[in-house]
Amino acid sequence: MARLPEEFLQRLRDANDIVDMFRSYAEVKKRGRTYVCCCPFHSEKTPSCTIYPENQSFFCFGCGVGGDSVTFVRKMENVGYMDAVQILAQRAGMQLPARSPDEERTANLRRRCLEINRETANFYYMQLVKGEDKRGLQYFLQRQLRPETIKKYGLGFAPDAWNLLRDHLRSKGYHENEMVAAGVCRQSEKGNVYDYFRNRVMFPIVDTKGSVIAFGGRVLDDSKPKYLNTNDTPVFNKGKNLFSLNFAKNASSTTFLLAEGYMDVIAVNQAGFDNVVATLGTAITPDQARLIAQYAKEVVISYDSDGAGQAATQRAMNHFADVGLPCRILKMEGAKDPDEFIKKFGRDRFRMLIDQAGDVNLFQLERCKQGLDTDTEIGKTEYLRRVVQVLSEIENDLQREVYISRISHESGIRKEVLLAQVTEAIKKHRYGEKRRTFRAIESQSLQRDELNPDAKLFPRESKAEERILAYLMQYPEDCEMLWQRIPPELFRTEFHRKLYVRICTFCKETGSFDASAVQEELTVEEFSRLIGISARYRDTRVTRNVVEECADVLHQAQQRITPGEDMSDDDLLQLVASRKQKK
Ligand code: GTP
Ligand code: MN
Repeated sequence: MARLPEEFLQRLRDANDIVDMFRSYAEVKKRGRTYVCCCPFHSEKTPSCTIYPENQSFFCFGCGVGGDSVTFVRKMENVGYMDAVQILAQRAGMQLPARSPDEERTANLRRRCLEINRETANFYYMQLVKGEDKRGLQYFLQRQLRPETIKKYGLGFAPDAWNLLRDHLRSKGYHENEMVAAGVCRQSEKGNVYDYFRNRVMFPIVDTKGSVIAFGGRVLDDSKPKYLNTNDTPVFNKGKNLFSLNFAKNASSTTFLLAEGYMDVIAVNQAGFDNVVATLGTAITPDQARLIAQYAKEVVISYDSDGAGQAATQRAMNHFADVGLPCRILKMEGAKDPDEFIKKFGRDRFRMLIDQAGDVNLFQLERCKQGLDTDTEIGKTEYLRRVVQVLSEIENDLQREVYISRISHESGIRKEVLLAQVTEAIKKHRYGEKRRTFRAIESQSLQRDELNPDAKLFPRESKAEERILAYLMQYPEDCEMLWQRIPPELFRTEFHRKLYVRICTFCKETGSFDASAVQEELTVEEFSRLIGISARYRDTRVTRNVVEECADVLHQAQQRITPGEDMSDDDLLQLVASRKQKK
């Protein structure tokens, strides 16, 4: 991929000051020549994210995310490198430089996929309202959707045929490869291209810009699988989008409802609640929780009332806690899901449910009763044990107090007794908590390093490589010297070698170094790691002497492995013996 000109990136960064960007998301405090704030990318109470105005970068010592303003947008908006650059350019009113042929091709395919999706949505809609086969329309009407709702959501029908859509798209000038890329058609082993969705009512998935990016399709009866969803395509990632977010984002309420199914969302929306979304056939992901947090101040989880729905609620709660979004849980009785509830009891009762939805603690406390007969002695004891556990985990003192009174009132246990038990449990926690953090820190160094798996095999070399990289970033003018002294083959870990080659190449070309310049070819995680190295050695600079020692480490390691290849057994024995002596 052709890199964006360095001059352009420089202007882009000058126009989007990193400290200002953080200010719009978090409270930023000045600390000497740097700034600190609570990391917007993980939940924390004491700030561990540092911002360096000097080189317009940031690094969070808590979660390891780091980078520049482009990275910030990549993470915040969940977009790729080029999209992030585009957003920043737009923010600053700058024109993007011309694209390379490769980028042109990718952008083209994305555009064609979006066009195909739009055309396909129209096709399904026309089949639904004008087609000969009326079963799709009957299905929606029988589920009490009004015509204007069908239109609003652009619902459709995929006829019971193998080639109708394909032929239609062909007649519009689309190539079969493009249809397959967009996910609306598939290719058989023999090479025939056929319609992916058949004999299903169709739900187009529309992103916040109003583009159709995917589809969900439901069978008309009880056959399996009930839903078929578009697999990931160049324009769609099922874990990063939400159904009906295009409507919810403009809702007047900043409380979002999260439902399980497409039909629930549509029924709730039809009943007058625009602020409802659902995931796309999977459990909610951290990305989706973050996406909701971008638009909402609070979320009410409105999952099915069955066991699966309740288990999913628990998981969703955890994701919202991680992104710091307050959530409440809808408690539905007499209906299995919001769709059914509204049909049975009407929208006003549903609004009451939302208003009355309790917080996370209430949800946990109620779950304590599950499977127990609290009229028996055993049931009651177990219930109390569970309740004490939940109460002791409530962090806010006042809130805890309120719930203790409430439970005491409900269960008839004296408040003092309850309080004593909870206090005891809190003490135990705090102790356990300390031990857990300690262990976590301990085991972190033993954990598998996904980015750089070789580091664990060669810890000494990996450390040396890190220092060399830090030195290189601090003294880019020495890159020729380094390259001579430490050719890249000496690097034992592939990840560091890759960074080394990139950075050296850049330094040789330009005579200077700027981390942002190599970001384009790296993932956010890889780039964060690089920024982390730079941040860690910022105050304790790597000296020329240290780099020499590191070079020795790598040279010695090299000598240790190469001889083995054509060594006699005797030589090998000798080598092993000499190594033992050294130790
Ligand atoms: P109705 O049964 O028509 O009321 O639809 P629903 O949208 O309420 O579906 P349900 O509660 O059964 O499932 C919730 C969501 O899970 C659906 O909207 C789909 O996104 C997803 N889902 C359900 N069944 C399947 C399936 O067979 N495959 C996939 N991939 N997703 C499914
Ligand atoms: Mn349903």
